[in-house]
Amino acid sequence: MTKSVVIFGAAGQLGVELVREFSARRCQVHSFTRRQIDLTDGAQIRRAIEQSQPDVVLNAAAYNMVDLAEQDPQGAYAVNALAVQAMAVACRQFDSKFVHFSTDYVFDGLKRAPYVETDATHPLGAYAVSKLAGELYAQAYLDALVIRTAVVFGPGGRATPRGNFLETMLKKAEEQRTTGKPLLVVQDQTASPTSAPWLAARTADLVDLGQTGVFHGGGEQPVTFYDYARLIFRAAKLDVNLQPADERQFRTPARRPKYSVLRNERMQSLGLAPMPDLESLVAAYLEGR
Ligand SMILES: NC(=O)c1ccc[n+]([C@@H]2O[C@H](COP(=O)([O-])OP(=O)(O)OC[C@H]3O[C@@H](n4cnc5c(N)ncnc54)[C@H](OP(=O)(O)O)[C@@H]3O)[C@@H](O)[C@H]2O)c1
Repeated sequence: MTKSVVIFGAAGQLGVELVREFSARRCQVHSFTRRQIDLTDGAQIRRAIEQSQPDVVLNAAAYNMVDLAEQDPQGAYAVNALAVQAMAVACRQFDSKFVHFSTDYVFDGLKRAPYVETDATHPLGAYAVSKLAGELYAQAYLDALVIRTAVVFGPGGRATPRGNFLETMLKKAEEQRTTGKPLLVVQDQTASPTSAPWLAARTADLVDLGQTGVFHGGGEQPVTFYDYARLIFRAAKLDVNLQPADERQFRTPARRPKYSVLRNERMQSLGLAPMPDLESLVAAYLEGR
């Protein structure tokens, strides 16, 4: 039987891949961007789910501006927590399954080893608290599937206002050509960049398998942001004056975990394919540009 799915956040990096993946798997896809629905309006969320009566609702939307969230915690909470509550309530009401995405930032980074799904959470700022609240709301009304991911990159990021780390680095390299100033990138933060197309495919697998609860869906390859920038410039064949920096030189409003690598223990136990090598994915991303 054809599955029908609603996808919120359909214009984001992950959202475009979810639309592509579920369409390729012959699902009937109802996708919503911010232009169609403002997720801070719970009534609009409920109406969209009621009208579509989907088998599955997927929420790839997020307020992702980690530093801005410190001045605007209500804004972050409205999208990352209260909109999720409205979705979960409507899913329960209309018997839809619910899939929500969260972040490696629910952890404080003190473990210094890859985080598994059962590790204790301890968010370090307004964005991270709002995302953890979203996880709780998603699971408060039904057995939702919550997938934590990290440092997402995908072709959609070329067109979104927020972009991704690759786009930021390419822009900075371009700027350096005019300013001549060295490009400083932190080497004391380690994460696991994640391919949006890979994550969309694994999400569809988990939905097909009827999985619920918290899953980690990260790239699993630990890399500091400095080394990630080096990898990007090497792949792009760009000669950039890149220098390692530490977090003290970038005192951002939000605290960030120093180490937030995710280990996909539950996906592994189901035998799902791990993400391909980061270097080859970055090369493919750049080729498609
Ligand atoms: N990107 C990362 O590095 C990263 C890291 C960890 C976890 N995650 C999680 O992964 C998921 C997917 O992230 P992503 O990289 O695809 O993010 P993204 O590219 O920034 O996409 C998020 C989408 O949400 C939309 N949105 C924000 N506020 C909205 C509102 N009030 N109403 C309707 N739509 C709204 C955005 O629209 P506008 O563009 O118009 O604002 C955007 O299309 C999110 O749950 C995110 O928290 C991402």
